[in-house]
Amino acid sequence: MRVASLLCRATALLSAVVQGLALASRNTSVSFRNEAIATRGDRPVVKAPKSGCPPFKKGNFSINAFQLYPENMDWDGNLCQVYIGILFNASFGIYDPYKEALDVVEFPGYTQHREFHVGGVAWDPHSGLASVIVGQGNAFETAGANISGTNLLKKYDPLTRKFLWTVNLTATTQGSYGGFNDAAHDPEGNTYICGTFPSSILKINPQGAKVVPWYLPQATDHTIRGISGIAAHGNTLLGFDSGTGVLYRFDATASTGTAIPVPFTPDQPLTSGDSIRLPIKFKGRVLLIANARGIAVLRSKDASWRTAEFLGVVPNASDLPPGPIIVSSVQIGEKLYIVNDWFADPIVPGTTAGGKTSFPMVEITKQVDDLLLLGLMYLQRVCSFSEL
Ligand SMILES: *[C@@H]1O[C@H](CO)[C@@H](O)[C@H](O)[C@H]1NC(C)=O
Ligand SMILES: *[C@@H]1O[C@H](CO)[C@@H](O)[C@H](O)[C@H]1NC(C)=O
Ligand SMILES: *[C@@H]1O[C@H](CO)[C@@H](O)[C@H](O)[C@H]1NC(C)=O
Ligand SMILES: *[C@@H]1O[C@H](CO)[C@@H](O)[C@H](O)[C@H]1NC(C)=O
Ligand SMILES: *[C@@H]1O[C@H](CO)[C@@H](O)[C@H](O)[C@H]1NC(C)=O
Ligand SMILES: *[C@@H]1O[C@H](CO)[C@@H](O)[C@H](O)[C@H]1NC(C)=O
Repeated sequence: MRVASLLCRATALLSAVVQGLALASRNTSVSFRNEAIATRGDRPVVKAPKSGCPPFKKGNFSINAFQLYPENMDWDGNLCQVYIGILFNASFGIYDPYKEALDVVEFPGYTQHREFHVGGVAWDPHSGLASVIVGQGNAFETAGANISGTNLLKKYDPLTRKFLWTVNLTATTQGSYGGFNDAAHDPEGNTYICGTFPSSILKINPQGAKVVPWYLPQATDHTIRGISGIAAHGNTLLGFDSGTGVLYRFDATASTGTAIPVPFTPDQPLTSGDSIRLPIKFKGRVLLIANARGIAVLRSKDASWRTAEFLGVVPNASDLPPGPIIVSSVQIGEKLYIVNDWFADPIVPGTTAGGKTSFPMVEITKQVDDLLLLGLMYLQRVCSFSEL
């Protein structure tokens, strides 16, 4: 116990030193451009090399950009960059973490229009393309009471830096279910979008020409919160119902989706979560669930997700500016970070978001690795025992 206590103190001291260093984060360089639509033949035949990304060496760092308010982030393992859903501005960020450069794509008619949010962004490791959801903020702000309005899925080609197509999801749902929040992809190039109010999954074909209501709501009441995060490994889709805390598995090869609960042990309560992620470095075996308490870490050793081990929760940080909400997690290089957002910041008059200029990225690589190694709560548990 004494050794553990010393270890805890040493770790705390080290953290303080490292954190001090992390404050030396440079200013992010930000550039803006409008959405560009690709024309036929825009896509180069040559694909980006898959030689792996340079190591990313930073621990904690901040993205310094006025009103970034990120809802979700995803790592492009080909081009070694991060996609960001810039929630309240309703724009799309492409962030180079090595150069600390942020490229913001704005959507005329949607960006900086109060009713629109860009929540879901997801990279497709099969095609190299990214999905961007330009959806209704109202659905979330009214907890599903008002789900009306246009929701778009846009497909981005990072190589040409252009959008290939846009589909209007509301044309399929006719406003009877909504709250579109996250995307995943199968090896055939189909995109799956989950709706939260109530649970639904839409399947969009690779050309963006066909939208199939693949998993329809089981309830007609759209104030019932349901699937808020979706992730895929091969043809195994996972959907997390943040209303009930149930994790579901779906078979992407089936013509319609069937939700099969994934039991996990020990059975821990997981309500009020947000997005989920299968970081590509774990090859489908480790799931991170953004949750009010922190990032829950689940494992399926064979990546089948028939059952799962609940390994623990990496706790939220206690020393961030007031009001953080854990919205997502993201792999950057071989590292893992918590994505926090601040929903309650008062809106700056004449704009669509609060006044923050700096958004901390809290590194959790070691905490996750320790949970995987030990299968029990990292130092937190040791420390609370030893301090008794
Ligand atoms: C990273 O940042 C979080 C939040 O500010 C802090 O709690 C943690 O101690 C930092 N970690 C390190 C290693 O500095
Ligand atoms: C960052 O930006 C602020 C305000 O624009 C400026 O005062 C400061 O010198 C910049 N810091 C660096 C390291 O460039
Ligand atoms: C968000 O929009 C405001 C204008 O309302 C702009 O000044 C700011 O730079 C934008 N932030 C980002 C990250 O795009
Ligand atoms: C519901 O949401 C839509 C789209 O955001 C908005 O135009 C409309 O005014 C809202 N209705 C009410 C009653 O708030
Ligand atoms: C999307 O579809 C809905 C329902 O058909 C329609 O009301 C709305 O105008 C469409 N929006 C766009 C931008 O096409
Ligand atoms: C952090 O998690 C604890 C529960 O583990 C919760 O009581 C607290 O509100 C959370 N804090 C933030 C800032 O999310």
